[in-house]
Amino acid sequence: MFPSTHPPSMGSMGLASNNAPDMLWFDTFVHPDEIVDSKDHMPEYEYTVTGLKRIKKRDRIQLGTPVVVNGKALALFRHGDKHFFAIQQICPHAGGNLAMGDIEEIDRMLCVSCPRHKWPFVLHTGDCLVTEDLRAEQYPVEIRTTNGLRSIFVGFSGLNQTLFYEDDF
Ligand code: FES
Repeated sequence: MFPSTHPPSMGSMGLASNNAPDMLWFDTFVHPDEIVDSKDHMPEYEYTVTGLKRIKKRDRIQLGTPVVVNGKALALFRHGDKHFFAIQQICPHAGGNLAMGDIEEIDRMLCVSCPRHKWPFVLHTGDCLVTEDLRAEQYPVEIRTTNGLRSIFVGFSGLNQTLFYEDDF
């Protein structure tokens, strides 16, 4: 995966904040249509005497697409045609696989709920809604067209230094 510092090419669609021109952008080689649209798989709720209750689903669909870019395991999510997200795949609480989490709207914030203890993380910021002490790494995403092929790019502020040995420098 080769990073790029180029601004988005013609025909690409900026989907997250792109006000950091010095970012390194990595191609995930994932076409946007390959990612399951979470809008089609939102959890359902019903009102009971004890309050709002979530209806258990029979089938679990994995909404997140796992990728490794810049040495980081990420989960890519899609919500409708315009909203794409990249968040660290391993839950910062206790290692749950966020790629297998549900996407739900909580207090008007789109969140991924960890499949392990159900703690929600805001997809736009990575903030954990259970505790301020935890935050999932969250990265900007763009769709770019390269040689006629559309794919998801993820932006990083620099190369992951853990990919290098000290002697390399
Ligand atoms: S491991 Fe994710 S909420 Fe606990």
